[in-house]
Amino acid sequence: NYSQNLKGKTVLITAGPTYEAIDPVRYIGNHSSGKMGFSLAEEAAKRGAKVILVSGPSSQKTSNPEIALHRVTSAKEMFDEVFKHYENVDIAIASAAVADYAPKEVASEKIKKNDDTLVIELVKNPDILKTMGERKHRQFLVGFALETQNEEENAKGKLEKKNLDMIVLNSLRDEGAGFKNDTNKIHIITMHENREFALKSKDDVAKDIMNFIEEKTLK
Ligand code: C5P
Repeated sequence: NYSQNLKGKTVLITAGPTYEAIDPVRYIGNHSSGKMGFSLAEEAAKRGAKVILVSGPSSQKTSNPEIALHRVTSAKEMFDEVFKHYENVDIAIASAAVADYAPKEVASEKIKKNDDTLVIELVKNPDILKTMGERKHRQFLVGFALETQNEEENAKGKLEKKNLDMIVLNSLRDEGAGFKNDTNKIHIITMHENREFALKSKDDVAKDIMNFIEEKTLK
């Protein structure tokens, strides 16, 4: 009883954290589970879309034949994988929690604990979503924002700066929202709208997000 509204469309989704290697056994990462991105992928596939899911390290799985899953580790790898596909997709959703910085040099051997302090120099990672915005020609582009202050203002700023069509805001102030949880509470912000949704499961949040995208792209 699912609508096949996205039949013939290709949807690219990024999910999960990225791991930035420090040495052969250590990395800098974050607590993103990848759940939101995998839920979005399942939801888009149910609606008939062909889905390309690029995920950082996550324990989430999919057996859906309509989802082509590409697993990557670092932001750089995610960037390269995304731009193998971006040119030809109709909708792109960046739900990955990409590490902002990576170690400038990766030690070739395990770093020994010698000194009392250790300094690791970090350099900025490429902004995948911002680059998608710069290279956008027909794609409907969706970003995520996780803010702790001036949430709506910052999200709107990101929408403009990254040339997005919509941004999904999750506030860390909301109990049960964000990152590690199975639930999420969001606002969807476009240039002209700000719609608030109730706290719900990430599968139901994925439905709200895909409904909103359909509303904006299918005319
Ligand atoms: O600027 P900020 O990192 O808060 O933006 C969050 C949004 O940008 C998310 O949609 C995230 O997936 C995306 N992003 C990205 N590449 C980065 C950093 C963030 O695609 N290097």
